[in-house]
Amino acid sequence: MTDRISVLIPESTLDAKIKEIGEKISSDYAGKEVHLICILKGGAFFACELAKRITVPVSIDFMQVSSYGDGTKSSGIVRIKKDLDDSLEGKEVIIVEDIIDTGKTLHYLIPLLEHREPASIKLCALLSKPDRREVPIDIDYLGFDIPDEFVIGYGLDYAQKYRNLPFIGILDPGEEMVQVDEKLSENHGQDPGETEEKEDSPEPALE
Ligand code: IMP
Ligand code: MG
Repeated sequence: MTDRISVLIPESTLDAKIKEIGEKISSDYAGKEVHLICILKGGAFFACELAKRITVPVSIDFMQVSSYGDGTKSSGIVRIKKDLDDSLEGKEVIIVEDIIDTGKTLHYLIPLLEHREPASIKLCALLSKPDRREVPIDIDYLGFDIPDEFVIGYGLDYAQKYRNLPFIGILDPGEEMVQVDEKLSENHGQDPGETEEKEDSPEPALE
């Protein structure tokens, strides 16, 4: 069956917002250097676009965590799948995440990273679903608050698919929606093709 999507945030709106966040970070950190921590895999598309918009010196490192749940829900049990390469000591750290949903992932991760003695640590997220929050999280730089819908694109996946969509979409079998295969062809001139194999784990992981 073909999955259907509707566009929630178009590419041009994402571009404009990322430019704005990049400018704000550049002015907040004037005279300093920033160390971006990209949370894989979802944060990768946003982190790359954001890094290009920051005018102070930028270094970037990557971390991958999984929160196990039923595939679309976070359980709050977080596992580090890939740790950072570099020390955080004395660095002005900005965590770059795709979406803050229940907040459980960052609720676990921030204290863990604070323990590594950065000069400062801030959180930047492209999206937030405030209605879903289960633990309080301060987001220092936020792209968009969105409703309680499961979204895909711009790094966000459903079963590892759709990260490559250049917009934020809602995956739904509802009426009047665009066929995702058509959207992909429109944007890339090709079919989505094969997708990454799911990890061999007891339950699907959210990344
Ligand atoms: P948390 O619930 O805030 O801990 O979010 C856990 C992770 O679930 C996020 O980092 C995302 O990778 C993933 N996630 C949450 N909501 C969505 C969604 O709507 N689409 C795709 N992934 C999501
Ligand atoms: Mg994530």
